[in-house]
Amino acid sequence: MAGDRCYELAFPGATDLTYRHLAGVVTGRLLNNVGDPFEHGHGRNHTKDVEVRVVRWLGELFGAGDDVWGYVTGGASEGTLHAVDEAATAHPDVVVYASAAAHYSVAKAARLVRAPLVRVDTDERDRMSLDRLRDRLLEHPGRAAMVVATVGTTEREAVDDVAGIAGLCDDLRIVRRRLHVDAALAGIPRALLPDGARPGFGFGAGATSLVISGHKFPSTLTPCAVILYPRRPSGPDQQRISYIGSSDTTIGGSRSGHTPLLLAASLLGQGHRGHRRRAQRSRDLAAYTYDALRRIGWPAQRLPDAFTVTLAQPGPLPRPWVLGGDERTGRIICMPGIEQAWIAELVADLDGLLRGRIHVPVPRRGHRRPETAAR
Ligand SMILES: Cc1ncc(COP(=O)(O)O)c(C=O)c1O
Repeated sequence: MAGDRCYELAFPGATDLTYRHLAGVVTGRLLNNVGDPFEHGHGRNHTKDVEVRVVRWLGELFGAGDDVWGYVTGGASEGTLHAVDEAATAHPDVVVYASAAAHYSVAKAARLVRAPLVRVDTDERDRMSLDRLRDRLLEHPGRAAMVVATVGTTEREAVDDVAGIAGLCDDLRIVRRRLHVDAALAGIPRALLPDGARPGFGFGAGATSLVISGHKFPSTLTPCAVILYPRRPSGPDQQRISYIGSSDTTIGGSRSGHTPLLLAASLLGQGHRGHRRRAQRSRDLAAYTYDALRRIGWPAQRLPDAFTVTLAQPGPLPRPWVLGGDERTGRIICMPGIEQAWIAELVADLDGLLRGRIHVPVPRRGHRRPETAAR
């Protein structure tokens, strides 16, 4: 199983950081951060203090003040569901707006809270079009709005203009609104870009909630994410539950006490400097990948500062490369842990295909092509 790692190029899980010093506690102790992370509750088998440190570390990175609130979820999908549910609870007439390039979890969250979802077209760089968003918002006058912006879209790593979205809502005098930022993939690496190159997408830019995934850039190696708000949302779940001794303001209820340890080891352990270095290495590898593909004449694209390189989907390949995507377009996401030598081997296979040096038998009907295997 582990031997296949080099072929897994299409999904954004970093694997360069490992945590052997936590093996004993992760495999040998029950740790349940049940309920609200800021309230200890009755139990002692939890890591809520560590969880709060993770929330504060990220809150500072994304421009929240001392009142930051949030928790470690099972994944970014759960974080987005929390934000959409919060919006729908505060404003039962809310309409959810998300770009056509938004992650599928947004549609699921809207469906679960029974809120209508309105799709907004994207521009040539896959960003939510502000003109189209204006048109869509004007179609629902008087209704509360929950706009979900994406920082690092799943397919091409496009970054929506969060400040532009907030400004547009101001122009249209939409006061009853939420602006959730799905920064699952690219939030941390983009926030660590130098001044001038860093897009403004955090709480200072108008976000009202933001989620990042732990198993993507931070390399927690097991699914988790962190949902953040600039302050504790008011809602119906604030009352203390006597059984657990705290409120349950989360979607999950019982939650992993191990994932906050992994997040803390990554985020606090590496610090800004370590993560900035990791991000730069990934961007360098993406630049190498893009150049190498273009050099052999293979159609490829890369948006500025992206780890993601999209490429024309090859036919069957001699080795089981996983390039995701659809019939036309595959992708390579240069996450920390991916080695340049692997990319060089893929490019050599593609070159061989182009020059007719490699012939791969076309699979019989019904056989799944490894490079398009569904995830
Ligand atoms: C933009 C974006 N949002 C959300 C998700 C879902 O994240 P998770 O796997 O943490 O639920 C992904 C996963 O690739 C993503 O790319």
